[in-house]
Amino acid sequence: MSSPIVRAAVALVVTALGFGAIAYLAGPAAYDWLKALHVIAIISWMAGMLYLPRLFIYHCDAEKGSKQSETFKVMERRLLRAIINPAMVISWVVGLWLAWQGGWFKAGWFHAKLLAVIALSASHGYLSAAVRAFAEDRNLKSASHWRLVNEIPTVLMIVIVVLVIVKPF
Ligand code: HEM
Repeated sequence: MSSPIVRAAVALVVTALGFGAIAYLAGPAAYDWLKALHVIAIISWMAGMLYLPRLFIYHCDAEKGSKQSETFKVMERRLLRAIINPAMVISWVVGLWLAWQGGWFKAGWFHAKLLAVIALSASHGYLSAAVRAFAEDRNLKSASHWRLVNEIPTVLMIVIVVLVIVKPF
């Protein structure tokens, strides 16, 4: 079960089964229970997205082939596979269910949130490509590049949270 696609598929099936069970058992309260699950998933997703570029910053300073560099590789791979990827899948699946159930697909704030979340998912893709590059010792980007990249999920998170809580339009 090493392929990221297999892991993502497993996360998807487990989520679908889990939230199907919640929807069935919780009845009318299912929306709130699943919103809680959504928030838990996005906290995990964001924690990983904010920590991974930080690891890259330290990894840039470690000599290639050193023990420290190999330790960073393990930390980056585990963070991506065990936390970030499954958390993203759960955030998307449950978020889309909430949108469908709440009738939010017609709301202006939701369209804007969707754009910001797509941008966040694209930066997720960029970071997972970087995990592969670091693992194969072919990262050419500097620590200051990763310091800048670190700001992208932060800014998107602020935009998304304001949109979903304030619903300004
Ligand atoms: C991955 C795709 C996502 C989709 C499709 C999605 C969709 C939704 C929907 C439809 C709701 C329910 C809104 C309501 O009932 O008022 C919701 C709640 C929420 N979402 Fe997302 N979301 C996604 C990702 C995110 C991300 C990345 C964040 C934060 C960085 C986030 C933060 C929140 C918060 C804080 C709430 C609770 C809002 C409240 O209770 O008023 N979501 N989301």
